[in-house]
Amino acid sequence: MASLTIRKLDETVKTYLRLRSAKNRRSVEEEVRVILRELIEGREEPLTPFAVRPAPSPAPTSQRTGALPEASVTLIIGGGIAAYKSLDLIRRLKERRIEVRCVLTKAAQEFVTSLAASALSHERVYTDLFDPQSEFDAGHIRLARDCDLIVVAPATADLMAKMAGGHADDLASAILLATNRKILLAPAMNPLMWNNAATRRNVSLLQRDGVVLIGPNSGEMAEAGEAGTGRMSEAVEIAAAAERLLRPPVPRPLAGKRVLITAGPTHEPIDPVRYIANRSSGKQGFAIAAAAQAAGAEVILVSGPVDLSDPQGVTVKHVESARQMLEQVQASLPVDIAIFAAAVADWRVASEGEQKLKKTSAGMPPLQLVENPDILATISKLTDQRPPLVIGFAAETEHLIDNAKSKLDRKGCDWIVANDVSPATGVMGGDRNTVHLISRKNGESTGEIAVDSWPAMTKEQVATELVARLVKSVTGKSLEPAS
Ligand SMILES: Cc1cc2nc3c(=O)[nH]c(=O)nc-3n(C[C@H](O)[C@H](O)[C@H](O)COP(=O)(O)O)c2cc1C
Repeated sequence: MASLTIRKLDETVKTYLRLRSAKNRRSVEEEVRVILRELIEGREEPLTPFAVRPAPSPAPTSQRTGALPEASVTLIIGGGIAAYKSLDLIRRLKERRIEVRCVLTKAAQEFVTSLAASALSHERVYTDLFDPQSEFDAGHIRLARDCDLIVVAPATADLMAKMAGGHADDLASAILLATNRKILLAPAMNPLMWNNAATRRNVSLLQRDGVVLIGPNSGEMAEAGEAGTGRMSEAVEIAAAAERLLRPPVPRPLAGKRVLITAGPTHEPIDPVRYIANRSSGKQGFAIAAAAQAAGAEVILVSGPVDLSDPQGVTVKHVESARQMLEQVQASLPVDIAIFAAAVADWRVASEGEQKLKKTSAGMPPLQLVENPDILATISKLTDQRPPLVIGFAAETEHLIDNAKSKLDRKGCDWIVANDVSPATGVMGGDRNTVHLISRKNGESTGEIAVDSWPAMTKEQVATELVARLVKSVTGKSLEPAS
């Protein structure tokens, strides 16, 4: 009969066996016997009492598939009395959908067990730089790079000294030297160690190198009668600091600003079933609304009938006709910026048929057209609630720049975004746009007109560029357009 050497089993199987045997309070050998017996009797436990994952892939979390987790941390646990708090930290990070892979220093294993860290992280725990199982493909480099952040908790005086000196004589220090990821340290030590000149020197060197520190806090120490600065921050504080580094707040340069945008065509009814329309898709206006919202603005989008989903976080008012659009625009004032990207019908039928118009022997019914309200001019010429920045769109099929320049004067707005909507350009309904931003130099109401011609780009890129100009105009600060 062949014998089975547990030591020679593959690492994932060994981890599984260790976890399962610990759970069932049996030796690993006994656990194997139980599994085999249950298999033969056909009543084996599910083989995943803990989620044992395959060996980590070299791609960073963001490139891995699956919705969870959203980020990954290599957690280095140093040899301090506060190591027990790091077991709670594993849970706190995982609660935040952060995958955790633990590395325990030799000294850390005097305070907490690899088994506990492994059971809580649901991952293999790493302890040895010269581990043939993980070093066959330079495992320490993977641990250093195959994560989004490295957290050291507790960061002992010794580990910080090694980092400051660039040492790499064990797995933890080798990872810290080989990484190009951000590092968060949670120091924990006796107050005298923390205040020692050598530790002070090391801390300031590390901070100069870009390493981030959380804590230490002040209070009672583990040693009887000792108090001062040196307590490791609480697990929730460290997890929150890690989260801030992993998910930095997005800049919101338009926060506090109200932006009104119109988009899409209008439908001008002829009778209950027919209407006058145009080919506008609303894509450009919707893209501007989404970009302004992403920049932190409160956005109100007044949209004609379109086949687009409402952008997230934007208040959308759906309308049909030009008159309804004007009504909703007026009801949305005051705003800081108004952008009129809708292709509003210039005319409507003088008297809309109450019933469907019928074909008769009298021939075609006469359709008398009357002018629609000019929304851009109406708002630009307001004396009371005129938005500080009013932007119109000029959709032209010929003499684009000249027509747009004269529109700037005629309507009384501040900027015109001119685009060529000749059928050959595919702009109407398409995904790309070539625009020219027409404004008065120095923002004065009279004076020379400046024409800024942008290269062809997607409507989302036009929106991003335009929002970057809005930010500069209203805050005086430049916004790096998102790539
Ligand atoms: C009971 C005990 C508690 C310790 N607590 C700490 C501590 O809180 N912080 C610290 O920097 N060192 C502490 N040490 C000293 C470290 O364990 C020692 O410097 C060790 O070499 C650190 O190894 P590491 O940095 O590789 O984890 C403690 C030692 C003992 C015996």
